Amino acid sequence: MPVTSVIGLQWGDEAKGKIVDLLTGQHEIVVRYQGGSNAGHTVVVGGESFKLSLIPSGIFRPSVQCVIAGGVVLNPKSLLAEIDDLTGRGVQVAENLMISDRAHVVLPWHFDEDRLLDRLCGAGEAIGTTMRGIGPCYRDKVGRSLAVRLGDMYRDDFPQRIEQIVEAKKKILAGLGATPDEITLDGTKIAEEYGGYAARLAPHVADTTAYLLDAVEAGKKILFEGAQGALLDIDHGTFPFVTSSNSSGVGVPSGSGVPGRHVTRVVGILKAYTTRVGGGPFPTEQDNATGQHIRDRGNEYGTVTRRPRRCGWFDAVAARYTTRLSGVDELAVMLLDVLDELPELKICTAYELNGKQITDFPSHVEDLRRVQPVYETLPGWQQDTTSLRRAGDLPENATKYLARLSQLLDRPIGIVSVGPDREQTILMEK
Ligand code: GDP
Ligand code: IMO
Ligand code: MG
Repeated sequence: MPVTSVIGLQWGDEAKGKIVDLLTGQHEIVVRYQGGSNAGHTVVVGGESFKLSLIPSGIFRPSVQCVIAGGVVLNPKSLLAEIDDLTGRGVQVAENLMISDRAHVVLPWHFDEDRLLDRLCGAGEAIGTTMRGIGPCYRDKVGRSLAVRLGDMYRDDFPQRIEQIVEAKKKILAGLGATPDEITLDGTKIAEEYGGYAARLAPHVADTTAYLLDAVEAGKKILFEGAQGALLDIDHGTFPFVTSSNSSGVGVPSGSGVPGRHVTRVVGILKAYTTRVGGGPFPTEQDNATGQHIRDRGNEYGTVTRRPRRCGWFDAVAARYTTRLSGVDELAVMLLDVLDELPELKICTAYELNGKQITDFPSHVEDLRRVQPVYETLPGWQQDTTSLRRAGDLPENATKYLARLSQLLDRPIGIVSVGPDREQTILMEK
């Protein structure tokens, strides 16, 4: 039975939402297992665009069970707003959404910490987080003493627990440079507010680890929806310019509780070029007219923060690394149409570091900062691809470009996307 994972292989926003929505038709359960409201996944259904942060992109098919597993950090307020938005637009969110009682809760102080740390470290290059409290919440999870899991919100001692954490957090915020009038935490109010959220979420809360283990053993078809991209992985990405969870393929077992051996198909998602939001090195960045052209055509502005995304050429060194790291079986190349007008295209096939050519992705961010990309230039196709639906109809130069990506990454391309809509998809012949 297919158990599939969908993993972004760059710095996020590879159009995972579109692919998850497409593949949901072949699955019974769709699972988000890491990240939180830092994610923004776009699904276009019948010309209508939906932005999802916490809810799995399988939600548009009511017969599919959607699961938010324990590895996710959950902001109950934004989750409820997302549920209300979807139901208001006619999408069913009821028993078809299940949330792990193990998921850690993003609380008001996590937003303060995200902001204060950014201010404190502002002298150097900032990580440029989404300011959704993601890093601080994961930090509390690892630190344990000040963490709150969703299941804790249903315990009688929840208000006392919040009061106790608030006292500690006031000291921590002051230590991070908050002025007295910036420290507005009120334990009683927070416990009351979050108690209300917990009551509304109660029908969805379950032990999703047990549910998913039963499901794999029963041979159910499960789809794991990665958030962010493998280059933002806390352990294997461009540290410290990363997110705080395992956003490469290695995150599936830890975030969901389902052993990796059950995953039978890994689909790696790539843009036909590269983008990045936030700080950190980006060897193939085009901070010039080409980058702006890609930004305009690809509407490359953050789904969550609306920040302009940094744009550049396809980096095959980075993508080959993340393809291997995530155990990818096949590739989906997205937003190919964005390159339609360019007369020529570059692909980075190696880096030059200290006078030597390398094809391994450097482990230290300062080395990555110093590499010079080695480019191969391919002719563009200068033809509109957005209405194409068959591989055989692609312009010859587009076919050649895709073949070169596949060759460099040593994996077949199963899907090519030429527009945001479900229909604007080309399934490649095997
Ligand atoms: P995700 O976070 O990986 O789900 O990706 P985002 O939703 O943040 O960003 C991808 C953007 O590209 C969204 O606005 C999609 O609607 C859009 N998109 C998806 N596939 C295509 C495509 O093939 N061509 C174009 N032009 N846009 C696409
Ligand atoms: P999706 O799932 C692109 C980036 C932020 C920042 C870094 C750390 O839509 O692909 P964080 O708030 O997680 O502590 O920020 O990670 N980032 C993303 N970039 N797509 C995302 O998600 C991202 N989630 C986080 O811009 O550089
Ligand atoms: Mg996104």
